Amino acid sequence: MLVDSHCHLDYFSQPGEQAEIIARAVKAGVEEMVTIGVTLAQSREAIAIAEAYDNVWACVGIHPNHAGDVLPVVEPEVLAKLAAHPKVIGIGESGLDYFYDKAPKDVQEQNFRANIRAARLAGLPICIHARDADEDIARILGEERAGGHFEFLLHCFSSTRALAEEAMEMGGYFSFSGILTFPKGENVREVAAMVPADRILVETDSPYLAPAPYRGKRNEPAYTAFTAAKLAEIRGLAPTALADLTTRNFRSLFTKTVR
Ligand code: NI
Repeated sequence: MLVDSHCHLDYFSQPGEQAEIIARAVKAGVEEMVTIGVTLAQSREAIAIAEAYDNVWACVGIHPNHAGDVLPVVEPEVLAKLAAHPKVIGIGESGLDYFYDKAPKDVQEQNFRANIRAARLAGLPICIHARDADEDIARILGEERAGGHFEFLLHCFSSTRALAEEAMEMGGYFSFSGILTFPKGENVREVAAMVPADRILVETDSPYLAPAPYRGKRNEPAYTAFTAAKLAEIRGLAPTALADLTTRNFRSLFTKTVR
């Protein structure tokens, strides 16, 4: 079985759509998935979806593009309290995004640190969105880890090899998306070949970033299978071995999913 470690099921909002998408995922061998919040309201929505479906987990957090929506930034205790729910397995998605640059850098940093503190308070891993901000991501991770342990996942890895190396040194996890299948994904494929086997996961980030052969279409958790097939090829593993490996890694990072 495969797990989609990062999707946004709340964006599939037509009546009955979520049930259909989840059923299609299971049929494609993607038996569990994580729906992740980007605002407080959407984090609560993610929890509601996880309550409705046995094989869906939730993460709660504030995305950097929404860091400035409500100021001051979120209190870590507020996220940690939401994270006490049995179906919430991690904090996120949070991080820094200097590409879209929707909130000032200092506000993004305060928000990222608040999310990290929530992860520490809750004793859960944080799912990190890093876009065009590699140096600040590495700096903040280093500083915050000096203040107390937390596990982290660089989701939809699309950063530099330098950040990958720093994250490896810190024992971070890496999740790969449909970008692995894109012609321009050469740098990401290089990192996917290099990171330790016990640190790799797969995801869709659906509805965004559909892998080939569905590139440009709306993505959905079932398509995790295409990214996993590409990752298996890169790692020189049989598809079943890659599925076992990434699911085992998912359970060792997201310990609340061990049932
Ligand atoms: Ni996402």
